[in-house]
Amino acid sequence: MKAVQFLSGFALLALASLLASAYDPSPLQDICVAINDPKDGVFVNGKFCKDPKLAKAEDFFLSGLDKPGNTANRLGFSVTNANVEQIPGLNTLGISAVRIDYAPYGQNPPHTHPRATEILVVLEGTLYVGFVTSNQLNNTLIAKVLNKGDVFVFPIGMIHFQFNIGKTNAVAFASLGSQFPGVITIADTVFGADPPINPDFLGKAFQLDPNVVKDLQKKFINGN
Ligand SMILES: *[C@@H]1O[C@H](CO)[C@@H](O)[C@H](O)[C@H]1NC(C)=O
Repeated sequence: MKAVQFLSGFALLALASLLASAYDPSPLQDICVAINDPKDGVFVNGKFCKDPKLAKAEDFFLSGLDKPGNTANRLGFSVTNANVEQIPGLNTLGISAVRIDYAPYGQNPPHTHPRATEILVVLEGTLYVGFVTSNQLNNTLIAKVLNKGDVFVFPIGMIHFQFNIGKTNAVAFASLGSQFPGVITIADTVFGADPPINPDFLGKAFQLDPNVVKDLQKKFINGN
């Protein structure tokens, strides 16, 4: 009797692990609404694949990441992407990269990547970086000052940021665990949603006067 129980328990475990490995593929875009007629479709998950016999080195190649991005903007930072949009050979491979430039006191504002963990290395300058854990972990700030050669990890989904706290330009490169990680900039999505989210709702959520919310919405909706 014991042996039978043990065996059926074992079979159940084996089945469970089989089911656990047969998971859905992770989405590679923000939304993918089902349609009945494929002729109106764009793609299912990621992009169509080219005939592998026609693949060439250029499909796996990008140049120009030695060049600084233009940081002459409100926040003083610039992201140069090396994802599946620039390197078609990344399709289905679950990885991408970015170059990030920061003007003195520039910042990459609080944001999250819905589909990727990020590992960042500082090439030049001094950055104060961090992420905030989720509600379950009491929104704890995990932050540190990084110097040239330092590496930091931003776990998937966590809201994170980088501030250049130095008097000089800073440069970082980062790898992300998705061919198309996506970016959700918190201020842009909350205050820049178009059409705007009801300012009374947002005022209550953020403990702000609705007129302050309206003012923020004006700034964020009209092109940052
Ligand atoms: C979060 O806060 C609650 C309430 O103060 C506490 O019981 C819990 O241990 C905290 N959790 C962590 C991960 O710090």
